[in-house]
Amino acid sequence: MRAAAFTDLIGPDGVSVIDQPDPEPGPGEATVDVSACAINRHDLWILEGDSAMVDGDTLPFVTGLDVAGVVEAVGDDVSGVEPGDRVVLCPNQTCGTCRFCSEGPENTCERFSLYHGGLAETARVQADRLLVLPDDVSATAAAALPTAYMTAFHMLRRADVGPGDLVFVPGATGGVGVATVQLAAILGARTIGTSSSAEKLERVRDLGLDHAIRATDPEEIRAQVADIGHPDAVINHLGGEYTRLGQQVMRRGGTMVVCGRTAGTESTIDVPDLFLGHKRVVGSTMGTQDDLRRLVELTAAGTLEPAIDRMFALEETDEAFATMQDRESVGKLVVEP
Ligand SMILES: NC(=O)c1ccc[n+]([C@@H]2O[C@H](COP(=O)([O-])OP(=O)(O)OC[C@H]3O[C@@H](n4cnc5c(N)ncnc54)[C@H](OP(=O)(O)O)[C@@H]3O)[C@@H](O)[C@H]2O)c1
Ligand SMILES: [Zn+2]
Repeated sequence: MRAAAFTDLIGPDGVSVIDQPDPEPGPGEATVDVSACAINRHDLWILEGDSAMVDGDTLPFVTGLDVAGVVEAVGDDVSGVEPGDRVVLCPNQTCGTCRFCSEGPENTCERFSLYHGGLAETARVQADRLLVLPDDVSATAAAALPTAYMTAFHMLRRADVGPGDLVFVPGATGGVGVATVQLAAILGARTIGTSSSAEKLERVRDLGLDHAIRATDPEEIRAQVADIGHPDAVINHLGGEYTRLGQQVMRRGGTMVVCGRTAGTESTIDVPDLFLGHKRVVGSTMGTQDDLRRLVELTAAGTLEPAIDRMFALEETDEAFATMQDRESVGKLVVEP
């Protein structure tokens, strides 16, 4: 089978389509004929050599977390899915035995890791991480859901976002950003989103964004958010200087949930503002398989339409990563092997 592998950790030019042996499912596993696999910033970090997970010794490396396709074969001890089922993979990998697994939610597992391998014609996966897709959810829509939408959904839940809330989303145009805007609207909340691009913000407005701020300077954003209101929640996937900004703009007793570091790994906390304002800052990674199940149901019901910017053939995987690196897309980029 063919796979789009990282053969050099130099950015998009380091992607090559290579031949690999066809995988066979072991006990508890299934092989999936991959129809669609979305890419994420996480994959781009790896490709740029900016991830502790993969180095030169682990190449070629096939990434791809968000797999949707058709079950080709199942190994021993598999129930719940069978060959021919249309499925989406929850990329969570948990030990199932640690204190955090037994207490839940599962994404707090102390040995938590992620599946990689979907940017290929066939993926060998843990069968109990597969959800069977309703007929009216396409593989492409399903592939958009696991990492971006599941993470956004879990963060909104951690912040208890509900009807009438105001949610601040720095970086509202990417995978997690657009997912947050759409899901906040479904929860009855209003959103403020930022971007460096007026054109991309217009497209996110069409997807439900209420207030668009075209700015990158935290001071300028702070002033514009203050004119709109004090957010009840901040969903922060950018990290860096947007973290102090998010803390300062939110209302008394508000919650900021942080899942990413696109804009940097460090920030400062305004300590008096934190305690005098009774604010909460929460870290969050991915979501639960049940979050993903709900997202599939919302998509099947037509309540949620995952935002897909572009689809790419397997041979165009380098182009998909270049599009992400150049900040050209709104929503998800999906490779269709
Ligand atoms: N912990 C977890 O479980 C988890 C899960 C998913 C994602 N994440 C993290 O969340 C972040 C977003 O992931 P994603 O896949 O949604 O990425 P993405 O689609 O590439 O996100 C693009 C967004 O990031 C903004 N952006 C890009 N570079 C920026 C910079 N240097 N400064 C400020 N804004 C910048 C873009 O703004 P413009 O509109 O201005 O271009 C756009 O709004 C990443 O840090 C990722 O690692 C974490
Ligand atoms: Zn565990």
